[in-house]
Amino acid sequence: MGRIAYVNGRYAPLSEASVHIEDRGFQFADGVYEVWAVMDGRLADHAGHFSRLWRSLGELQIDPPMSEAALDRVLRETIRRNRIKDGIVYLQITRGVARRDHAFPNPAVAPTVVITAKPQDFAALDKKARAGTRVITRPDNRWGRCDVKTVGLLPNALAKQAAKEAGAGEAWLVDADGYVTEGSSTNAWIVDAEGRLRTRDTGANILRGITRLTLLDLARECQVEVVEAPFTLAEAKAAKEAFFTAASAFLTPVTAIDGEQVGDGLPGPVTLRLRDLYVRRARERAI
Ligand code: PDD
Repeated sequence: MGRIAYVNGRYAPLSEASVHIEDRGFQFADGVYEVWAVMDGRLADHAGHFSRLWRSLGELQIDPPMSEAALDRVLRETIRRNRIKDGIVYLQITRGVARRDHAFPNPAVAPTVVITAKPQDFAALDKKARAGTRVITRPDNRWGRCDVKTVGLLPNALAKQAAKEAGAGEAWLVDADGYVTEGSSTNAWIVDAEGRLRTRDTGANILRGITRLTLLDLARECQVEVVEAPFTLAEAKAAKEAFFTAASAFLTPVTAIDGEQVGDGLPGPVTLRLRDLYVRRARERAI
């Protein structure tokens, strides 16, 4: 069965689905997106992703194209038409179509709404994730509003490609002061020598990951000490464990950074335990 996409009120085969060439998403990356994991046909971390979506739209002054209830229905219908049990659903909303001009169209035009969904074999991914992955690092040369989940992802894409070419699974971005900000499409974490879980604070120029948020709650419930503060690349390399999080990666252990082994070079026990807890909880609470 071919994949089905939703575009502006219509469902169409992916190969036929299209947007206008003067869409501002295409010309200016003037749009936002969200990614939910789909578990048993339901949306994981449902509310968190929706609330970040409304915030991203607000920050860019893009009018919501429809209510949350309506958008929720369309997401589910896209999942249903693609017969997704486990996978990913992707939503993109741009400012819409207008003759090319940097300033916003006035009067405003209807936003463009695109939804796609793809199946994923979580069991196979789990097996792969459990083996861990290596990361490389790159200077963080992104704009100053990485808290907004925009489709302007060129630095992220270049960093991910560099990782791929180096045989690594992710690129961690490092700011001018030598602190790790986050991954190209994930949040970065370490377990330090004292067993504390450390991840960058949201006062920094990072995306406020929803998986990150759920995991912070979970870790606190498990009495794992959590520190939301900058950590240097040197601290990351010296950490006992490292991992990254995203809706598309859950928790993925990191076994080496820039070719230097992390801990004993194997996925760490804290990471694997939290991964299991996160995946179980996400599945239980998916709606
Ligand atoms: N990426 N940081 C960046 C730069 C990201 O792009 C993402 C998500 C995250 C993790 O956020 P969350 O836990 O809410 O998925 C952190 C998505 C999955 C993507 O671009 O496909």
